[in-house]
Amino acid sequence: MISHETIEKNLGLLIVLTVLLVSVGGLVQIVPLFFQTSTTTAVAGLKPYTALQLSGRDIYIREGCVGCHSQMIRPFRAETERYGHYSVAGEFVYDRPFLWGSKRTGPDLHRVGGRYSDTWHVAHLLNPRDVVPESIMPAYPWLDRPLQDAAIQSKMRTLNFVGHGYSEQEIAAAPAELEGKTEMDAVVAYLQALGIHAPKN
Ligand code: HEC
Repeated sequence: MISHETIEKNLGLLIVLTVLLVSVGGLVQIVPLFFQTSTTTAVAGLKPYTALQLSGRDIYIREGCVGCHSQMIRPFRAETERYGHYSVAGEFVYDRPFLWGSKRTGPDLHRVGGRYSDTWHVAHLLNPRDVVPESIMPAYPWLDRPLQDAAIQSKMRTLNFVGHGYSEQEIAAAPAELEGKTEMDAVVAYLQALGIHAPKN
């Protein structure tokens, strides 16, 4: 039996044992998450993003919206009263990469789907001050330009590798779905899809 004193006075041993402890502790916490149904199964009704929503999501990433908006409602009364049901793992199985965020300059957006009309979102993104006079959110007037996402089909194929399950028809139809749309249409389609499959209780 090694005494505590021996470990503390022997740096090499201390490092080895610390690494061992952290590794085992990490594995015990992380590995089960990959096998738990509640973290790996989609909530009822949740589907992979459509081609348009997927493009919108990429614009959301490009524009850095995640730098001010989280998508993670915590199970605190102050948040559930304001936004609705707290976020659960099964709502994020088609989110790659996750956009949970941690900076909350603006409101959490996880339950924003269906809260406002498309027209409201367009007006808000073109100039937030037009609909929320005290807003400090930047304007995104350039989103009005035509949507160009030449990589949409390869994105869908790549996501299929990790189990999104887009059918060949959906992939074939993707360019037509984006045809004639603006970047704004895509972002709004994405926002309207957020958090609409909240658990019922
Ligand atoms: C500099 C920080 C900042 C950035 C970047 C930002 N926002 Fe905001 N956003 C805010 C603030 C503050 C509000 C609250 C005032 C308002 O409604 O305009 C807000 C509000 C919103 C709302 C309304 C939420 C609600 O529940 O009322 C939506 C939707 C939204 N932002 C979407 C976006 C999108 C999409 C982007 C990226 C294109 C973005 N925001 C980028 C700060 C930001």
